[in-house]
Amino acid sequence: MSQRRSAQWYAGTDRNAYIHRAWMRRGLPSDAFDGRPHIAIANTASDLTPCNRHLTEVAASVAQGVYAAGGIPLELPVVSLGETLVRPTAMLWRNMAAMATEEMLRANPVDGVVLLGGCDKTIPSLLMAAASVDLPALVVPGGPMLTGTFRGVPLGCGTDVWRLSEEVRAGTLSEEQFLRSESSMIRSRGHCNTMGTASTMAMVAEALGATIPGTAGTPAPDSRLLEGSHEAGRLAVEMVHADRRPSGLFTRASFLNAVVALAAVGGSTNAVVHLLAIAGRLGVELTQDDFDATGAGVPLLVDLQPAGRYLMEDLHRAGGLLAVLRQVEDLLDDEALTVTGRPLTSYLADAEIWDREVIRPRDEPLQASAGIVVLHGNLAPDGAVIKPAAATPALLHHRGRAVVFDSIEDLHARIDDPDLDVDADSVLVLRGCGPRGYPGMPEVANLPLPTKLLEAGVRDMVRICDGRMSGTAYGTVVLHVAPEAAAGGPLGLLRTGDVVVLDVAHRRLDVELTPDELASREPAPAMVEAFAAPRRGWEQLYVRTVMQADTGADLDFLVGSSGSEVSRESH
Ligand code: FES
Ligand code: MG
Repeated sequence: MSQRRSAQWYAGTDRNAYIHRAWMRRGLPSDAFDGRPHIAIANTASDLTPCNRHLTEVAASVAQGVYAAGGIPLELPVVSLGETLVRPTAMLWRNMAAMATEEMLRANPVDGVVLLGGCDKTIPSLLMAAASVDLPALVVPGGPMLTGTFRGVPLGCGTDVWRLSEEVRAGTLSEEQFLRSESSMIRSRGHCNTMGTASTMAMVAEALGATIPGTAGTPAPDSRLLEGSHEAGRLAVEMVHADRRPSGLFTRASFLNAVVALAAVGGSTNAVVHLLAIAGRLGVELTQDDFDATGAGVPLLVDLQPAGRYLMEDLHRAGGLLAVLRQVEDLLDDEALTVTGRPLTSYLADAEIWDREVIRPRDEPLQASAGIVVLHGNLAPDGAVIKPAAATPALLHHRGRAVVFDSIEDLHARIDDPDLDVDADSVLVLRGCGPRGYPGMPEVANLPLPTKLLEAGVRDMVRICDGRMSGTAYGTVVLHVAPEAAAGGPLGLLRTGDVVVLDVAHRRLDVELTPDELASREPAPAMVEAFAAPRRGWEQLYVRTVMQADTGADLDFLVGSSGSEVSRESH
């Protein structure tokens, strides 16, 4: 590189260089502007994103590392999305966060960036941004919370909220006990400690090569998080010197490594949408079907909630992601590089399993093939996904009558109606919840079971939705149905009483209707109206331009990269 990117702002003796330097001096010495790397620390810390609140302390360690390596650290607060509070769903804002971060990195005099994320959408949006601006970038995952316990039993955040609230509805737990568990669930700083979306995206980022290998999954309060953060700051400076950028690092092989990791850890279905969106920014060819082709046969090796028993602190103690990956090393591509410049597989030689209950060796898997399965059929021409590891095996081949709900409001109004014609074999369908229909594609696919069936002891039913499911949830849930009902998908033509067939072994999701019968039907009126509502602002832009789940639900005009060049001066 002939000239450092930041030097386009700071080098020289003209008026503009004067302005750029003068306002930035505030404590920086003159040699700050001598061409050394300026490193942005994209920080998603926010009081309203409790999972990421501690990232300001992480940023301080990153900054020390940047200084230590001869760079200049610059904290850049970016849009922060907290899963628990943001309405109507944090996913509505993922692409906005990605766009805003991309533009601010491009607009400012920075040469590289350290990405600080944690809560579900933050690592995806940061990686999408870094991919599109294509500056040297690495992720520091903020890390999971420590394990909280209630009445002597560990609580998995997220997963146990669903479980305990169902127990209240089933009458097996008092409301008072339920409320008492509330203060035990969130024991420390950090993100959800189950293998939910936040933990999954940290694992997947590491498998992709975007973190310092061995750092993802370090609990947020653990001293090693700050040690790794310091190292990340140093590495960012090295990456600028080496011009090690996302476009050169993250190849199809890197993404397929991430798909293998996703399956081996039993990660969240949300990772499918996020990885597709990140790949789309890089122009890497990755399809939803790749998740099935590469991931479905991968053994489940990690016994974490929601599919299993343990929590992220246990995974870290047991050896972490590298110990898992060593077990499936033959499925990984040794060419795929990490941000350190070394291949991911070069870090696996001494990755031991320290607790074989938490991380299973390859020959004793929890399930022989556990990755996400992609279904096709006349209900999902562009595909739908299911996570068999979180489902009831007996329901993976099922034929039942549909009970159709047109919106989340319709569901809430009718699901507990004692007169609702539903039994344990029914297939519950919730539509109007895709990227356009709900705008944002909320995590509602694991719809609650009817109370009368819960009281009768039913704990799982086949559910089908064009929305997403929380990574901390479980059940026999078919999700991400594409095209969604509000985009004209056949899910919008389904009627209560139609017979639906789920056949996971054969990758099928069908309604027993002929093509002529389907073609003769009008979409349910609610589907036509679903995306007519937004009149202005982001929501309107989103509904007009969002793509379907099977291609990552990015906005169509954000696919690809614009690089880091800005030709015009501001003064
Ligand atoms: Fe932030 Fe679960 S709510 S990771
Ligand atoms: Mg979530």
